Amino acid sequence: MTSIQESLPFKLGVLRPGMAAEVIGLNLNQAIDDGLHQIILETFYKFPVLVFRDQTLDKRSQIDFSEGFGALEGHVNRDFRSDGFPAVHEVSNLDLNTGKPTAKLENRGNYHWHTDKSYLLTPSLATLLHAVTLPPEGGDTQFAHMGEAYDALSNEKKDEIASLRMVHSWEQTRIKSGSKLATAQEIEDAPPVVHPLVRTHPETGRKCLYIGTHASHAADMVRGVGEALLEELQIFATQDRFVYSHIWRPGDLVMWDNRCLLHRATESYDMAKHVRLMHRTVVRGDAPV
Ligand code: OGA
Ligand code: MN
Repeated sequence: MTSIQESLPFKLGVLRPGMAAEVIGLNLNQAIDDGLHQIILETFYKFPVLVFRDQTLDKRSQIDFSEGFGALEGHVNRDFRSDGFPAVHEVSNLDLNTGKPTAKLENRGNYHWHTDKSYLLTPSLATLLHAVTLPPEGGDTQFAHMGEAYDALSNEKKDEIASLRMVHSWEQTRIKSGSKLATAQEIEDAPPVVHPLVRTHPETGRKCLYIGTHASHAADMVRGVGEALLEELQIFATQDRFVYSHIWRPGDLVMWDNRCLLHRATESYDMAKHVRLMHRTVVRGDAPV
């Protein structure tokens, strides 16, 4: 781990070059002014996974910090619990009826590589996930860098996919991930949308593959052909060389950039025995171009 940029108002430790860094010595309970938000954003463009260590944020403070980056989103899935703070989703392996940990989750989408809310016309810019209760070990979150994956494609492949558009669908993703099926209301709230397969990051200008489990098929191709292409790209783009696995520590708040990353939860702990509870806020982004 190297510490860089002595001029920053916090200590920055690189966890994975060009992708993940930890921020040490910043208390996010304190008001973060516009200048500091800007410094965090500039750091975020260099490291799309930012790990703020040693935080003890309640829901209110997590909302305040997250809102500094833009408007927050609700969720199409009406199952998420919120206790008075609808902008904070509780991501957990708790059974909603018994309140006990379970390995039989109704929401399985998080365990497949995805980018948050790509089934919306304006998908998520950033997601902030705060560890509230962690299992003794495991329950890591993995991230794959879609800019690095794009760069590593052959020139022929880049030409082939340059102008393709993909359909992203909440209804399809629920079927594919073996989750509880989307309700009629959810399908009405989130009908299928079309996004470019290669998107340009609006801040860094970097081209990134925009894929993941919500991407269902190509808008302008025979269905099976587009599905096969997505499968091929997904396998290529999630190779170990593009991946950072985050091992959670108590107090971590991880903020990631959905415009240039895929991510997934892992089942690497005894889910029937241990609780994993995270508080999640999501910043709305722009339509991908
Ligand atoms: C999410 C998500 C992964 C995890 O909150 O969007 O995918 O490890 N979470 O909980
Ligand atoms: Mn997610």
